[in-house]
Amino acid sequence: MTTGAARFNDIKRHIRGRILMSRRDAELLYSAVVASGHRDYLEIGTAWGGSAILAALAKQDYKMSGLVYCIDPFDGFRDGVKIDDELYPKDPSRTPIIKSTVRANAQIFGVVEYLRIIQAKSIPTPLPFPLELGCLFIDGNHSKESVMADYDAYGPMVMPGGYIMLHDIDYTGPKILLATIRGRQPESIRYVTKSMAVIQKWLL
Ligand SMILES: C[S@@+](CC[C@H](N)C(=O)[O-])C[C@H]1O[C@@H](n2cnc3c(N)ncnc32)[C@H](O)[C@@H]1O
Repeated sequence: MTTGAARFNDIKRHIRGRILMSRRDAELLYSAVVASGHRDYLEIGTAWGGSAILAALAKQDYKMSGLVYCIDPFDGFRDGVKIDDELYPKDPSRTPIIKSTVRANAQIFGVVEYLRIIQAKSIPTPLPFPLELGCLFIDGNHSKESVMADYDAYGPMVMPGGYIMLHDIDYTGPKILLATIRGRQPESIRYVTKSMAVIQKWLL
């Protein structure tokens, strides 16, 4: 049986650029995608495609339908700061964060057909219609305003039983959102690592 950890290792070894999550967070994301069955996955913040490819591989490994929507402006900025050698000193390949990089990385794993790459900021939502999601991964702009706006706009699209994952919970925005959810519905928080929280929707 393929695991999220094995897929994380594959992605880490083969993509150009980097997957910006820990092995533990990758295992949780992979498991959430598998548990959410045939429903779509949407992520805000794709960078070089690591998390999107992981989600697509979970679907491929478990022969599940559902698409992987990726929303990212691909403008070279993260939280208003230019993504450069200072921020990503471990990317000696200096691979640009652009749509074609994500596509090329996905091609390595044969998962391009799962991806719907939307080059835009998450707010206002660039989706022409609301989706019925099994998983939502919030990993875009980490300011309080952006994270709250992402959660308010996309959270309602997650179906009962589905999962909302907040990444980089050591950053201000995700930290405040997690504290808000903890205050309202602590039992909806299923897992918390150093950097990610997994929230299950039907308990919200
Ligand atoms: C931490 S990286 C994403 C890492 C990726 N999920 C992974 O695990 O490899 C953050 C990404 O968010 C994108 N981003 C920044 N502001 C955004 C916004 N308003 N909407 C969507 N994406 C945004 C950046 O372009 C950057 O690629």
